[in-house]
Amino acid sequence: MRSLRWGEFAYTAVRKMANVQPGETLLILADTWTDMDIAEACLTAGLNAGAKAQLLVIPRMAPTDTTEFNDSITGAMVGADVILGLCPTFFMEKEACEVARKNGTRVTATDVRGMEDFAIEGICDVDYDRMDEIAVQIGEIYQRTKRCRVTSELGTDIEFSLLDRPIDIGNGMVSKPGESNFFPGVSVANAPIERTINGILVVDGNIPPGHLPRAPVTVTLESGVITKIEGGADAAALRAHFEKSGDPIATHLCHFTLGLNPRARTSGSVHQDEHVLGAITFGFGDQDPGFGGDVPPCSVHCDLVLTSGTIECDGQVICKDNVLSEALGLGGLR
Ligand SMILES: [Fe+2]
Repeated sequence: MRSLRWGEFAYTAVRKMANVQPGETLLILADTWTDMDIAEACLTAGLNAGAKAQLLVIPRMAPTDTTEFNDSITGAMVGADVILGLCPTFFMEKEACEVARKNGTRVTATDVRGMEDFAIEGICDVDYDRMDEIAVQIGEIYQRTKRCRVTSELGTDIEFSLLDRPIDIGNGMVSKPGESNFFPGVSVANAPIERTINGILVVDGNIPPGHLPRAPVTVTLESGVITKIEGGADAAALRAHFEKSGDPIATHLCHFTLGLNPRARTSGSVHQDEHVLGAITFGFGDQDPGFGGDVPPCSVHCDLVLTSGTIECDGQVICKDNVLSEALGLGGLR
């Protein structure tokens, strides 16, 4: 059944995520690990949208491979109005992508491997515009929030201020020159004010290097920095992960993200786990400058996911047990 739906996926990816317009130059970027049926479906969708569409397949590069792209790949990227990435290669981190974006190319990407059903259902079977509207509404509440408290049945209890921090909505849709994003969305994120962050996270969702823990891991934070990691084998692995990085900033909390997609399921795939409706992710280490935070530069980044919890903003419950507050006008997502 799934194979019959890649055409629908491709239509939505091209029209809604990449916002491809007739006459635009569209580059579909695949690598040697990409399912070519999906890449070809996107090429067809691009041509049907009236774009000057082409498909480029590059050799897959490991996430740790920092080699830059050759001139041929760079030329294709810089010459495109819009790039739709479908590959496991981290192409967004290459200089070629940075140059292309500075030149006005907009870029959106997904890696469907391991989350195929979510990739399709998360953009085709959901009220995407309502999800995006709700993200905006939550962002507005966050910007007024002096005291945000996150709790969970497992024992999470952490507080921080969000006042006036910029909001980042990850919706996967790109329409302005130079914009970049990943899909499926939607998530709403910001950086809590670092010195105000204190408490305990009990992590029962995705944990580095990108799997579900066998038992919850308890992480203590003081003034935005991890001071203790407790639990079983996954706690030891997390401690080792931070130590191996050799970067003292790796344990600084750098973003707070709420997933909003009702089609996402906790599965062990990081992108899908972070987008589960009501899943709460805390990022550590490298902080996107767009968050306007105080975390010093860092060479590494990782995410810790809580599958569920309660978010209270100045005493008002925004989300509890994976359900958004109807009373605050955040209902209507199915
Ligand atoms: Fe993150």
